Amino acid sequence: MLRRLHRAIRPGLPEARDGAALEIVPMRRRHVRQVVAIEERIFPRPWSPALYLSELASPASRAYLVALVDGAVVGYTGSMLVAGEGHVTTIGVAPEWQRRGIGIKLLYRLVCELRDRGAKALTLEVRMSNTGAQILYRRFGFVPAGVRKNYYPEVNEDGLVMWAYDVDTRSYLERLAEISRQIGLPPPGADGVPGGGP
Ligand SMILES: CC(C)(COP(=O)(O)OP(=O)(O)OC[C@H]1O[C@@H](n2cnc3c(N)ncnc32)[C@H](O)[C@@H]1OP(=O)(O)O)[C@@H](O)C(=O)NCCC(=O)NCCS
Repeated sequence: MLRRLHRAIRPGLPEARDGAALEIVPMRRRHVRQVVAIEERIFPRPWSPALYLSELASPASRAYLVALVDGAVVGYTGSMLVAGEGHVTTIGVAPEWQRRGIGIKLLYRLVCELRDRGAKALTLEVRMSNTGAQILYRRFGFVPAGVRKNYYPEVNEDGLVMWAYDVDTRSYLERLAEISRQIGLPPPGADGVPGGGP
């Protein structure tokens, strides 16, 4: 299934530098060094290369994507899919590329992929103070559902648990189609984009 994502998206991303187009492709082992380099800049407890490699070794239950500009990794996201529940485990964009529409494109492609693979609901944890990320997640229908006390001990912060329900429905498909229009990517089910059913 992931192979279908090999085809690069070339939406003529206006915010890419020097006219370079953004590509969103499956994360491969060769991307991990660059992913971890970004991870170390944006997270207080970065994942190790070994952790990423072990995630990539379980493609049946994992989906990981990278955003590339001129072949260089500028962002990434990943998830675990178990029993119809997709858990977004990570998302990050290099600081100099943030607020340029890359995170939302990554999440859009990931959610389409998870739907295509049978997700009925999605969940994630986010730092309470990370309101920017929470705004992004709300656009995909995530709503607060609980608090994990001191989930991020390295920054002494609680984790907000968010869920997006009924992502296998037609109304959620319409939400994704609306997002696709906003970000200038093809809708779910279009050539190269999974997640067009039901
Ligand atoms: C959170 C993160 C992945 C978002 O990626 P990004 O490329 O910067 O976000 P985008 O430019 O795609 O933003 C899309 C939309 O999300 C919302 N959004 C994203 N960041 C926001 C912020 N800091 N403040 C307010 N809204 C924000 C907005 O609705 C935005 O649309 P707009 O720019 O038209 O207003 C990125 O900022 C990041 O890597 N942060 C550090 C790591 C992190 O916090 N990861 C999440 C852990 S749970």
